[in-house]
Amino acid sequence: MVLSDLLQIKEKELAGRKKIVLRCCMAASCISSNSQGVKDSLERAVAEAGLQNEVEIRSVGCMRLCCEGPLVQADPQNALYVKVTAENAPSIIAVLKGGQAEAVQTDPNSAFFKSSFALFSPTAASWTRNASKAISRGTVTRDCIRR
Ligand code: FES
Repeated sequence: MVLSDLLQIKEKELAGRKKIVLRCCMAASCISSNSQGVKDSLERAVAEAGLQNEVEIRSVGCMRLCCEGPLVQADPQNALYVKVTAENAPSIIAVLKGGQAEAVQTDPNSAFFKSSFALFSPTAASWTRNASKAISRGTVTRDCIRR
């Protein structure tokens, strides 16, 4: 395989992507709060709205705000929904058609996420050090920190 083969694979992959991606957290904390039910509900709402060719529902790992889960993040809008339920998840799809979301949105550019990126560095020692600093600064609470 040569570079041109890899570029061809990349172009094919990019061409096959859908315009809208909803990332549904399927890590332990969100799973325990029924993120599977949220994901199933989103998939049903996408089918009912006839948006299967435009919207991808993607299972993702922990988004680092476990205490607010289940989380759903929508791109390209960069919207982040917290404490989503199977009941209010369809309203996230309704937004795509000009409706109003019943699910609660939070700011993905908030101080929590800025400090969170600094917090999760590659080594365990620096993670512990950064987590301790963030807790002592009050930027995050112990309940919000999961590895
Ligand atoms: S488990 Fe969902 S945000 Fe951490």
